[in-house]
Amino acid sequence: MKNILIAAICLISSATIVAQSENAQLKEPWRPQFHFSPKAHWMNDPNGMLYYNGVYHLFFQYYPNAMVWGPMHWGHATSTDLINWKEQSIALYPDSLGYIFSGSAVADEHNSSGLGKDGKAPLVAIFTHHDPKGETAGSNHFQNESIAYSNDEAKTWIKYSANPVLRNPGIRDFRDPKVSWYEPGKKWIMTLATADRISFYSSPDLKNWAKESEFGQRLGAHGGVWECPDLFPLDFENSRVWVLLVSINPGGPNGGSATQYFTGSFDGKTFTPTDTSTRFIDYGTDNYAGVTFSNTGKRRIFLGWMSNWQYGQQVPTDPWRSAMTLPRELGIKKLNGRTWLTAKPVKELVASMKESKTMTDINMNGIYDVSAQLNRPSSLFSLVLTNVTDNNFSIVLANNAGEEIVVGYNKKTNQYYIDRTRSGKIDFEKGFATIHTAPRIARGAVNLRLVADRASVELFADDGLSVMTDIFFPSQPMTRLYIKSVEGIAIKNITYSRME
Ligand code: FRU
Repeated sequence: MKNILIAAICLISSATIVAQSENAQLKEPWRPQFHFSPKAHWMNDPNGMLYYNGVYHLFFQYYPNAMVWGPMHWGHATSTDLINWKEQSIALYPDSLGYIFSGSAVADEHNSSGLGKDGKAPLVAIFTHHDPKGETAGSNHFQNESIAYSNDEAKTWIKYSANPVLRNPGIRDFRDPKVSWYEPGKKWIMTLATADRISFYSSPDLKNWAKESEFGQRLGAHGGVWECPDLFPLDFENSRVWVLLVSINPGGPNGGSATQYFTGSFDGKTFTPTDTSTRFIDYGTDNYAGVTFSNTGKRRIFLGWMSNWQYGQQVPTDPWRSAMTLPRELGIKKLNGRTWLTAKPVKELVASMKESKTMTDINMNGIYDVSAQLNRPSSLFSLVLTNVTDNNFSIVLANNAGEEIVVGYNKKTNQYYIDRTRSGKIDFEKGFATIHTAPRIARGAVNLRLVADRASVELFADDGLSVMTDIFFPSQPMTRLYIKSVEGIAIKNITYSRME
């Protein structure tokens, strides 16, 4: 009798769980399933990303009282695998010095700041204090850099009593400090966005900062203000390439916000570019303010805000707004005599895939229906195509409501593209329903990975040389998937993997 009772209770409660999750899905049709999004309210830039003691910490610009931007806090989420995130309590609240704008976090291993306790390294967050009163009063000094520290592995934070640590010299846009340790000079380097250029500062202790140099006033894209920079080295063969990321808004290659990069060298004082052309880490419209995690050793892991200031506050999700991109591992590739930055989804993503099916040696003309080959086509998947003839082709994600998102390659223009003009709900902002393009850098056969969540696609083409991220809002899940080529193409392998 007791067993029957227990079995009945189990049955009822599992039915309730299923019903609840179905309900949640119906209510939140665009909730990302393997990208971080806050349970509720407004989020923008990733902040303070740090790996420490086996845990990835992701802080983020957060306004916990509305679904639009407001007085900024640092929200917090943690993960041990970069894919499954757990939202934690808010890390930093606005105070008398202002809102808590974007910034970074470091593990101060040698306790250079003296803020550690009991011989343990403190974690130190370096952020912009944005004083809204000063801003409205017309002051030029309303953004200053401050620090906060944690002696319990990021659970609680104490703001330093003598904030700010870097005072504004009179530049209205003076923000988003990204700090890292520069071993050859045994000092901290702060990379700071200062209006139309980047300023580098250095410090022995995270509290006293001296200016080293400036970069970029006449280089790169300047269609908008420079924000959220990052500077880091990447090993390539026997050399070291320094990469400088700079976000701009507006002025992105496909409208609104985007992140450009420069490659060069850094000597502890000055960044010297070796290539001065304008290039973007992602040509889609939905990857902004991205920077890399600190303390990950030789790995460089990047993620960005998967939205755009052009429409971020109007997207139709509820009760939250926006998600982060997939974490991506950055690398360097030399091609055509030039140095390029590459971005590929982290290997943890591949490990989290469920079932895979591979189709080989496809010679197709017209339409090849991938979903027809699958037992359970999903709207959450990774699709890898290898050795594709570099002829016009497209990958179409579609649903039964006739909506589609098209990702393709145009041979004539030598561009990849994403077309979201018929992707579902598009009328919340007039510039949303457009076609976006990315230059192709590689030559010859195409290799690519496409990752789709409920409301996003991320294209990593040619080993991460051409990358695009776009969001969309279909009225039903996009579970139909086919490849189209009027001219005809050959594909060596099509591998479809369902995501967890
Ligand atoms: C970039 C940005 C940053 C700023 C933050 C404010 O999206 O404008 O420059 O620190 O957002 O939320």
